[in-house]
Amino acid sequence: MSAAWPRRPRLVAGNWKMNRTAPDGAALAREMVTLLAGGRPCEIAVFPPFTALESVGGVVRGTGVHLGAQDLHPEPHGAFTGSIAGPMLVAAGCRFVIIGHSERRHGLGEDDALVARKVAAAHRDGLTPIVCVGETLAEREADRAAEVLVRQVAAAFDGMTPAVACATVIAYEPVWAIGTGKVATVEQATEMHRVVRATLDRVVAPRIGAEVAILYGGSVNAGNAASLFASEDLDGALVGGASLEPAGFWRIVAAAGGAAAR
Ligand code: PGA
Repeated sequence: MSAAWPRRPRLVAGNWKMNRTAPDGAALAREMVTLLAGGRPCEIAVFPPFTALESVGGVVRGTGVHLGAQDLHPEPHGAFTGSIAGPMLVAAGCRFVIIGHSERRHGLGEDDALVARKVAAAHRDGLTPIVCVGETLAEREADRAAEVLVRQVAAAFDGMTPAVACATVIAYEPVWAIGTGKVATVEQATEMHRVVRATLDRVVAPRIGAEVAILYGGSVNAGNAASLFASEDLDGALVGGASLEPAGFWRIVAAAGGAAAR
């Protein structure tokens, strides 16, 4: 089970995807840490590629910025060529792991059952999973967005205790908004976050949905972050492209922190 985690923390998570070598990642992390020196307005985590975890971890250690990985294998060790296990991520200094990102669900064929096994593995190994859910454009246009979210959330949280559910973070990331520059409106995101919370109430335990942190992800940038964080249903953001630019990332962090302070 993961380490203690405050109730619905404000969290801005930077998903670097397949960008930055070990030395380049360390340089990027140094720039970010320098900007954060004046204070940390909310929880912050960075997710470099596996090969940059050690170097970036060395930079962020002791700064309050958390380290996370972009995926794990459900087994803790064994003959799984090319895969990385949870205990390896913990040993590299990770606190978080992203699971079920749409680039893995849709690009690599990961299904709900595999996502659920990875979520359980993260908790077993002491990592806080950030479970990504979200509909494609075709699903939204067919009026199936809520149905898809219900299915994905129910599969990932099936059989989970309330305590473990509260130590899990969800990222609502509509696939049509990821890397496209098309951000969901605050109304669309809020509506979908409420679908997720209602599903948790049904699948885990009554009223548990209000206890779980839900991030929004998909083309979040320095220009649109403040308007998104105006919704109390958004507990932060999972940021892709804009997390590779330290000054812009800092403005997203400041917007999340400012909203939390209200
Ligand atoms: P984006 O990516 O911010 O570049 O749209 C978000 C994500 O994939 O987590």
